[in-house]
Parts: sequence; C-alpha cells; structure tokens
Amino acid sequence: MQKSNLLKDFFRIYGNQENSPQLFFSPGRVNLIGEHTDYNGGFVLPCALSFGTYLVIRKTNDDNVKFASANFELKKSVSLKNLKEKVNGEWVNFPLGIIDQFSKKGKQISGLEFYYSGNIPNEAGLSSSASIELVTAFALNDLFGFDYSIIDLIMLSQKCEHEFIGVKCGIMDQFAVGMGKKDHALFLNCKTMKHIPVRFKLDGYRLIIANTNLKRGLSSSKYNERVSECARAVSDISKVMEINDLSDLSIDLFNEVKNEIKDNTVKQRATHVVYENNRVLKAVKALEQNQLETFGKLMIESHNSLRDKYEVTGFELDTLVEEALKIKGVIGSRMTGAGFGGCTVSIVKDEFVEEFQHKVGEEYFKKTKLKPDFYLPEIGDGVREV
Ligand code: GLA
Repeated sequence: MQKSNLLKDFFRIYGNQENSPQLFFSPGRVNLIGEHTDYNGGFVLPCALSFGTYLVIRKTNDDNVKFASANFELKKSVSLKNLKEKVNGEWVNFPLGIIDQFSKKGKQISGLEFYYSGNIPNEAGLSSSASIELVTAFALNDLFGFDYSIIDLIMLSQKCEHEFIGVKCGIMDQFAVGMGKKDHALFLNCKTMKHIPVRFKLDGYRLIIANTNLKRGLSSSKYNERVSECARAVSDISKVMEINDLSDLSIDLFNEVKNEIKDNTVKQRATHVVYENNRVLKAVKALEQNQLETFGKLMIESHNSLRDKYEVTGFELDTLVEEALKIKGVIGSRMTGAGFGGCTVSIVKDEFVEEFQHKVGEEYFKKTKLKPDFYLPEIGDGVREV
C-alpha cells in the first residue's frame, strides 16, 4: 500500500487542513504453534506478518473524534464527551476501547481524525483486531507524548479486549503484533513476558496460510467458554497442589494430579494445554537445530489435539489440514489462532506451492462448498511509524 494513496484518501475524506497527518502501520500475526496456551500462562510461537493495518491520523481543533476506514462503510463522528459508549457490533469499538483505556489511566486526547486501511482478512484468525488496537495505541502514544513502552501498549490493548470488547483473550496476538521481528518467530513465555526471537527463514519452503472463509458466528462466546474450562481445571487441581495456571504443570506432574479434575471434558481441555505447552518447547528446539521436519510433525500433533481434546477446529479447518497433508511437499499443517473457522498454516516445499493451492482449493470446495483463499506471507516487523 502506497503512502501517497493513503494520504490522498485521507485528504479526500477530511480535507487538507493546517495540521499534517502521520502514518502508522501494525501487522497481523500467524501463530506457528502453542494454541490456547497463552491465557494459561504458557508458551507460544507466533510471527508478525508483512500485511496489516495502516492508520493515517491527525489532530484537529474541534471536540470530535472521527473514524473512517477503507474496509468498512461506517463513518463515525463521536464527541469527546461520549467516547465511553460502545457502538453496536462495529469496528470502531477497537479504537474506542483503546481511547477508553488511556482515559482510565488519566490520559486525555483532543479532537482527532482517523483513517484506517488494512489488508488482513477480517475474522480469519490473523489478528486484525489486535492490529487495529496496537496501531491506535501506538499512534496516540506518539501524538500525545504519553510515553508508554511497547509492552505497556500491548497490555493496554489486551485490557481493551477484556473490558470494552468482551473477549477474555490471552496476550499472544497483541504481543506478536507489537513486538514482531522480520524473519523471526517470537518464543514468548506468557507468564513472565520473557521472549526470544527465533530465526524462521525457510530455505526451500514456503509458509502458506489457507482461509476457510467460514463465518465464525459465536466464536467469542465459545472462546470464553474454553477460558473458563481451564480455570475449572486449575481450581480442581488446586485442592491437592498449589498452582496458578495449567502451565505450572509438567506432563509428569499433570499425570499425577489429573484425576482431581472431575469433569471429563475439562480434563481433556487441560490435557491439550499441558501437552501443547510442551510441544512449543520441542518446536523451538527443532527450529534452532534446523530440523524442519520435526517442527512440521509437532504442528500436526498440535492440530490433532486441538481437534480431539480442545474441540476448536470443525469440519472446514480439519478438511483443509487433511487435504494439505495429502500433498507430497507438505511437512506440517495446523489450524492457527482461536479456531472455530479462520485459517490454517502449512509449511510447503517451494516446488509444491502451486499444486497445494490448486488441489487443496479444489478438494476443499468439493467437500464444503466454500472457496478458500491462500496467502503466501513474509514474516515482518511489529507496529511502527512509516
Ligand atoms: C485468539 C486469542 C489469543 C489466543 C488464541 C489461541 O487469537 O486472541 O490470545 O488465545 O486465540 O491460541
């Protein structure tokens, strides 16, 4: 996306006033492995993508905050006095939620014009929401000199999800979008926030993201249900052993205490989390030792566990993975993100990339009557001014 075009659009909508606008960018993310572990204090391994959300923003001299987007019809002007009100089901709730978080910290803004333009597919599990949140938080921090660190802005964006949007998400998405590093995955401990960039440059292979294009419907309530199932597992185990999170348990310890978990479904959920956490450690080791095939096998194990134990995949995601694994040059494939629709991520030998898109596309359509989209992303940097 060209800076000059974004500015042209901005001036067309808002006119060319005295103050000059600034341009910011925030990526989407894909998670390689470590799914539904972040809100359990566990490990994750996401990367920031080369595509994301642009924000052109300018201070004004009036008392309104105006929102426009290249991707959605809705334009909105909200008076500075009414910023705390949520708008029914609309994208502007993400920037409104960020402004609300700043205001809770006693940080006030003045009149503003926002223009967003993004190329992350919506509701695809590639963190378009976290991307809007972070680009907004980063821009406001810069414009008003609030002086927060990126980590502060990441935490603030997560709180916006919890308190304004109503999704009890973990920290992974905001972290990847905020801290992403070109050609690297981020190995993050979600309890301590300690993170190590791990080189993820695939020689002879490509990362393919495949979008089920399934509309996810009630995904946020199902997500919150998983969060509370994990909390129930912790509470049952806490009767015999002091733990704060499921990630406090090694596989051996978990097997000693798992029968304390009374509900069988809850036990299955906890089993996924404990083993998935362990898989992330193995996956990082495999990457460091350049054992890509081992890495791919762990991706497949992760998907199977999300399908059978965590039950967040569904027919469409399972079909995409199944069809992907039938292609000779595919060494790993799994769902990525929250699940219930959204995308898969696969590692594919260069010479099979075309066959992948053709065959998986065809078979998926036959079975689901949906046309998938394929993306071949580069791994990019986190939020920044451009
Ligand atoms: C969503 C949430 C993340 C994480 C993933 C599942 O993307 O926003 O915090 O829990 O689902 O791994």
